[in-house]
Amino acid sequence: MSFDVAAIREQFPILKREIDGNPLIYLDNAATTQKPQCVIDALVDYYSTCNSNVHRGAHRLADEATRRFEAARDIVKEFINAPKREEVIWTTGTTESINIVAHGLGSLLSAGDEVIATEMDHHANLVTWQQACKASGAILKTVPVNDAGELDQDAYMSMLSGNTKFVAFPHVSNALGTINPVKAMTAKAKAVGAWVLVDGAQGAAHGWADVQDIGCDFYAFSGHKIYGPMGVGVLWGRESVLEDWPVWRTGGEMISTVTLQEATWNVLPYRFEAGTPNVGDAIALGEAIRWFSALDQEAVAAHEQALLDRATELAEAFDGLTIIGNAKNKIGVLSFVMELGHPADIGFLLDRQGIAVRTGDHCAQPLMARFNVPGTARASFSIYNTLDEVDALFVALKKVRTMLA
Ligand code: ALA
Repeated sequence: MSFDVAAIREQFPILKREIDGNPLIYLDNAATTQKPQCVIDALVDYYSTCNSNVHRGAHRLADEATRRFEAARDIVKEFINAPKREEVIWTTGTTESINIVAHGLGSLLSAGDEVIATEMDHHANLVTWQQACKASGAILKTVPVNDAGELDQDAYMSMLSGNTKFVAFPHVSNALGTINPVKAMTAKAKAVGAWVLVDGAQGAAHGWADVQDIGCDFYAFSGHKIYGPMGVGVLWGRESVLEDWPVWRTGGEMISTVTLQEATWNVLPYRFEAGTPNVGDAIALGEAIRWFSALDQEAVAAHEQALLDRATELAEAFDGLTIIGNAKNKIGVLSFVMELGHPADIGFLLDRQGIAVRTGDHCAQPLMARFNVPGTARASFSIYNTLDEVDALFVALKKVRTMLA
């Protein structure tokens, strides 16, 4: 197999769009990826041919919808190498996946227990633990980030102890692109008996979510960052942990028996899937993963590395621009500030030229404070981006610099 970026681009209808007469250059892939036609078709086909509620109906449509929905769960199971399909729980996305764990954890923590998160976490993987600790009297510790934008592994080691009940960290920093050594970090936490959650929002999109290899207890990711729809995501949880974990939302589907005073709980995964699930989007996410998994992963990785290398080279040569986040291992994310303008101005002026980047704190305010910046402009690359688009970003940034001067 090989990698043909032009052929990939052909599959994404939105890439044909123009913005004020300029061809769209979409460099906001860490916020959300665009969708190939097959994913859009899967969603339309579900609603056109077999829309129905699942697990409940006695009719043909319900049966077909249930089969497709559960087949998508199997696709996720294979993708993340989960030992059991029952461990794959549909959620609305990474944030809800993390909140399910935080909800359960909150009721299991006691005063004096310790929870470790990091200075580079997205708010979803920090504020949730803050709240769980506040409610229980547990202590929250955070692993600091070095000047390159990497987690300080010595500091992490010094925080781990027999009091550590839970550790959470991102697979990849959304704001800087840093790829964390999740397998080694998990092993260290497991050595002191802690539960481990990996926030895979930015990691799953690269096909690295092998939960057995990582060795974690929980892995969370969103469909929309891996070419699937918004509003659907996954919490993978180890069965031996989740079977005793406190229930999350209550309602239909998650119960086994109900009397007027009591209820007992359904088996995994339904125990955590109260109410009607997002059937169509789960099916479309299955299609997105099937589509992505069929690509030559080595060629995809090489392409994304080439985009990052070119962007880094051009950024380093660009007067008045500073890269925030120079980790040795990064995904295709270039976060930067410019002397002459606020990140919001940079984003606005790039948009005028058809280039979409994200600006601001990237839901990582402590990390921005660590680097003493109000926010950054962030260009994040995906498989359909081209080297020409990276070059065009820097041509546009030269215009931005002239305008701001
Ligand atoms: N967390 C997403 C981002 O990094 C929205 O842009």
